[in-house]
Amino acid sequence: MPNDTLNWSKWLLEARFSYMTEEQKQQSIRWLLSVRNAVLHNAGIKPSNTIIDIGTGTGLLGFGALDFIDNTGKVIFSDYAKDCLDTCKQVAEKLNTDKKIEFLLSDCLNIKLGANTVDRALMRSVLVHILDKERAISEIYRILKPEGIFSAFEPVIRSNTRCAELVNPEDLTDYTEFKQAEDECMDSMDNPLTNFDENTIKELLNKTGFSDGIIDKQIVETKYEVKKGMVKSWLTTPPSPGTKTMKEKFLMYFEEPKIDRYIEELQKALENRSVTIKSNVLYIKAKK
Ligand SMILES: C[S@@+](CC[C@H](N)C(=O)[O-])C[C@H]1O[C@@H](n2cnc3c(N)ncnc32)[C@H](O)[C@@H]1O
Repeated sequence: MPNDTLNWSKWLLEARFSYMTEEQKQQSIRWLLSVRNAVLHNAGIKPSNTIIDIGTGTGLLGFGALDFIDNTGKVIFSDYAKDCLDTCKQVAEKLNTDKKIEFLLSDCLNIKLGANTVDRALMRSVLVHILDKERAISEIYRILKPEGIFSAFEPVIRSNTRCAELVNPEDLTDYTEFKQAEDECMDSMDNPLTNFDENTIKELLNKTGFSDGIIDKQIVETKYEVKKGMVKSWLTTPPSPGTKTMKEKFLMYFEEPKIDRYIEELQKALENRSVTIKSNVLYIKAKK
């Protein structure tokens, strides 16, 4: 799917699963639900709380949070992408709930809420898309009431298993060059996806004024049977709307035919093999 027709709700509903088999997609959805449960549990929500789901997307956390409040509480679904809020509105209409729901079209770098206005701020996989993470965390601090809790989940992309780790150097003609390019891209500090790890987040929580910051780092392992065409999909699926695919990043280093040969050789080396992809993920909990 070309990047320019991809919006966030399409990416969340379709593109992110596009290289997966049905079984892998179901495994991924089960995992997303377990992440949702953990973030909501860590938030320690009280029935009367005002909760904001920042970068709500298709409402994974926001709709889950509704189960924790009564009609004195409120959930604010917030995103800078209108298409996401439209999707959430459609789901909310179908739910026909009597719980209080609001929608807030807002950039998380400048949240359109006053200071000290929410009890709980929830986030899943949003900071990973924000270059200026300090600004985003200080906005969360600003809108939380005293004693308010920030609960979030973020993947540490720079810790993901890299393609070069999955194959033997002799499997690829240009192994060393591609490994070097892959490492440069995955370690880049100019890219929001890769410019942080748990220490960065810990430092920013302290710097912006949060106390009791807890970061629970976990290692997630996903096992894949590599199917026909899967490697090409990995390298040509954007990690988020409007961002470069791995193939597009490689074009900054190599001519296209060389990249196509790399993809072909990588596919041949991995096809019908079971691979394990590891990545670090962070469960973040902090109190104002
Ligand atoms: C990976 S999705 C996660 C969506 C949702 N939290 C979930 O768990 O499914 C990232 C979301 O962050 C939103 N987002 C990205 N940058 C943002 C910004 N600067 N301000 C507000 N939302 C942003 C996107 O629109 C998208 O909905």
